[in-house]
Amino acid sequence: MSLPPDGPGDDLPLDGPRLRAVPATGHHAAAIQSCFEGAPDYFVRTEGSLPGPDAAIQLLADAEVDAQRRVYALIPRAGGPPVGVLDLMLDYPEPGVAQIVLLLFRESCQGLGYGKETTSAVEVALAARGFGALRLSVVDENVEARAFWERLGFAAVGRLDRGVTVYEKALRGGA
Ligand SMILES: CC(C)(COP(=O)(O)OP(=O)(O)OC[C@H]1O[C@@H](n2cnc3c(N)ncnc32)[C@H](O)[C@@H]1OP(=O)(O)O)[C@@H](O)C(=O)NCCC(=O)NCCS
Repeated sequence: MSLPPDGPGDDLPLDGPRLRAVPATGHHAAAIQSCFEGAPDYFVRTEGSLPGPDAAIQLLADAEVDAQRRVYALIPRAGGPPVGVLDLMLDYPEPGVAQIVLLLFRESCQGLGYGKETTSAVEVALAARGFGALRLSVVDENVEARAFWERLGFAAVGRLDRGVTVYEKALRGGA
């Protein structure tokens, strides 16, 4: 249950000024699980319960068998354990579009600008690779996330069943 050391994602430079985005392997499962457990409000709000004990292992296992999926542990350059996780799908739902499946920081590390920094790094890296748009979905219950994405310039472009809004931002300056 681990990606090879030079596994998918190493080719997408997503490091920000304060956080390094390290392609996640099984070695990061405990740290990612700790981030999940450090963000209980997100899970209660969106899933109605706290994260299960194997939530991180499950996410990494799902990503390992999906060639379009990239999962990163977000680790402070200053040192210490990961403060968050980024789950990204490339060329999904169509070629030239990428989707943020999840961007999550432990609650003690929210509101520090890490989300903005990481999203900016994603936008720059994807634009340089020729991607035209970045997309994501937010459930209605996650009002704070909707405000965050809107603040970063994402626009609601559609609605899915079960109270999900699709947000999108055009990427410019691509190769
Ligand atoms: C949503 C999340 C990723 C945002 O990351 P963050 O590091 O906390 O946000 P930042 O500190 O980078 O905020 C960036 C900007 O958004 C604004 N913002 C953040 N949350 C906001 C909110 N709830 N309401 C209004 N504005 C908000 C900030 O004020 C900041 O504005 P600025 O550019 O004027 O300084 C983070 O809070 C998180 O992990 N939440 C739990 C998981 C989640 O809901 N993920 C999104 C679903 S994919």
